[in-house]
Amino acid sequence: MLGPLYNQFLIASLKFDIKHRQKLYERECQDEGHLQYLDNYCYMQPGVLPVLDFHDQNTSHSTHALHPFAAKFPPQLACWAIEQYSQPGETVCDPMAGSGTTLVEAWRLGRSGIGFDIDPLACLIAQAKSTPIEVGLLSEHNRRLVREIETASECFRMNIETGVFPDGWLEVDGRPELPNLDYWFTPQVQVGLTLLKRAIRAFETQPAVKRLWYVVVSSLILAKNSVANARDIVHSRHHHFRHEQIPDPIDRFCRRLRQVERQMRAYSEGGTVPRRGYADIHCNDSRNIPLAAGSVDLIVMSPPYCNALDYTRAHRFAVAWLADVLAITFNEYVIRGEAGLLARIREVIRK
Ligand SMILES: C[S@@+](CC[C@H](N)C(=O)[O-])C[C@H]1O[C@@H](n2cnc3c(N)ncnc32)[C@H](O)[C@@H]1O
Repeated sequence: MLGPLYNQFLIASLKFDIKHRQKLYERECQDEGHLQYLDNYCYMQPGVLPVLDFHDQNTSHSTHALHPFAAKFPPQLACWAIEQYSQPGETVCDPMAGSGTTLVEAWRLGRSGIGFDIDPLACLIAQAKSTPIEVGLLSEHNRRLVREIETASECFRMNIETGVFPDGWLEVDGRPELPNLDYWFTPQVQVGLTLLKRAIRAFETQPAVKRLWYVVVSSLILAKNSVANARDIVHSRHHHFRHEQIPDPIDRFCRRLRQVERQMRAYSEGGTVPRRGYADIHCNDSRNIPLAAGSVDLIVMSPPYCNALDYTRAHRFAVAWLADVLAITFNEYVIRGEAGLLARIREVIRK
């Protein structure tokens, strides 16, 4: 159980309409059950809520916009909580870290971060976003990777145009296990994504740099304007969508790298003491966290909306492509996610 392990337990609930939240809060406070819940678990005090209006603020600074993620914190919310309830040098934990907003903010504010998430794709994203990279090295390796991708795409131009895999590629790379793969990804996009993965895999660099590149690949798939034949996958159910022009994942990837370099520069150069270690992220169920009592000073988290968001469904297109990187098969991912969702729904119904 989490309770006894930590000095402070803050649940900062995520609601985008602050006025609605204020009303909700006031109403809930009149209800005995909710009052007790808030007293037990929250440090939210009446009067602080109006401060938490971030509508006109930039939520894409540092690495926050590296990858789309449903129901992300506005970074300002995590920042506010960390500054309010912890001191520089202390340790902040997010047991449902999602895309790592809390961990990015913890680093920026000189706190050590520990994160957990049950979803391996979320862990990969959180790790990529919260691990600073020396910008000179990143910039040089980005340039070299782009050169190698350009050379490969020149060699395999015909394959990319026709969508026919070059000899031997499928034996090495296999095809993603996603059902109806050809319906969701045109053959040309499949060849392009495979080429990107091969180029990244063959490149010798730090694990942090590779992670960042794989997350960029995932972001092309889960973006609002996805390279898949689907729209806004991460926030909704998959709706088939036919692009007027077949998307070019290679061109998009290379352009995204320039953006990512700027984001990583802002993040890596914006961190403050203690620069001891990066955020520590584990793929783990937060109901069973292996941490010693008292090892964390603050928890900042936003639990999933189990009746509204199905992360496994949202992420499965990217997981199918990155299964080897995530060390999970597509089927294991789906089965684990569906079992978890069913268990949570049963729990809610029981209550
Ligand atoms: C609302 S999201 C968190 C978003 C995060 N605050 C951010 O800014 O990106 C909730 C997260 O909880 C994770 N989750 C759900 N059940 C979990 C569990 N039992 N253990 C760990 N993580 C869990 C989901 O995978 C999801 O990434």
